[in-house]
Amino acid sequence: MDRIGIDIGATLTKVVEDSKLYRLATGEPLDTVRKIVGERDIDLRLTGCMALELPDRIGRATAIKIPEFEALAIGARVLSSMDDGVLATVGTGTSVIRISDGEHLGGTGIGCGTLLGLSKLLLNVRDADAVSRMAEVGDARKVNLLVGDICPLPPGHLLSDVTASNFAKPLKNGEFTRNDVAAGLYSLVGESVATLAAFLSKKAGFGFVLYAGGGMVDPVLKSVIERTTQFWGLRPVALPEPLFVGAIGAYSKEN
Ligand SMILES: Nc1ncnc2c1ncn2[C@@H]1O[C@H](COP(=O)(O)OP(=O)(O)OP(=O)(O)O)[C@@H](O)[C@H]1O
Ligand SMILES: [Mg+2]
Repeated sequence: MDRIGIDIGATLTKVVEDSKLYRLATGEPLDTVRKIVGERDIDLRLTGCMALELPDRIGRATAIKIPEFEALAIGARVLSSMDDGVLATVGTGTSVIRISDGEHLGGTGIGCGTLLGLSKLLLNVRDADAVSRMAEVGDARKVNLLVGDICPLPPGHLLSDVTASNFAKPLKNGEFTRNDVAAGLYSLVGESVATLAAFLSKKAGFGFVLYAGGGMVDPVLKSVIERTTQFWGLRPVALPEPLFVGAIGAYSKEN
């Protein structure tokens, strides 16, 4: 029997079928799943926060619902070839789990949804690619207060460029561009999620953090997350196919 794994997140629905990957844009989850399934009698596995609301019977298929953290843990083990470690999934929000058993270690409401919501409010830019391009040429140091700005340190000191307070610099002077604000948003989100993930992974005894989720598809956010993880002394490991970890886990779960 054919098999399909579908991860229905707060923003995107991700589909894995016959080892092929598809990403579907936002849409009403039940309609989306109905269209994918059609009249096929298939082995249908659903995961993600929005999966719980769907009926068990869709067309001729009976859906198996797999808890999101279990699916993410299986997917991370498949994609990393590791048995254990800590995974941070940077999606609309961020969750941090242990991949050996899917234990939820923590999380934060800060994620890609925060980045796009704030970019709409502050910059009137709603498109993820557009704000990413702005951030790439912007300079977060123009909006962030740095340790070097508030503590007398010798020039070139290692900590000079470390963020002391995200977005606090406009209170002191107003020299910044829209691109700098975009870069500041990336630093706010990337530094926050990577700091949480690094400390949860350190506490669990690991020297690395696995990362996945739509945020890791954005090269600017990925770079902030990797830099911040290294700053805390851990090795960032970006999983391949970062959007599809949950869908791959649902697809791969043994019966
Ligand atoms: N190039 C990209 N492709 C897809 N999504 C991207 C990209 N860059 C950034 N994103 C962001 O990633 C987010 C979607 O990621 P993901 O699918 O992992 O989240 P989700 O599963 O919908 O949310 P959650 O897991 O929090 O319920 C969106 O907010 C989207 O804007
Ligand atoms: Mg998700």
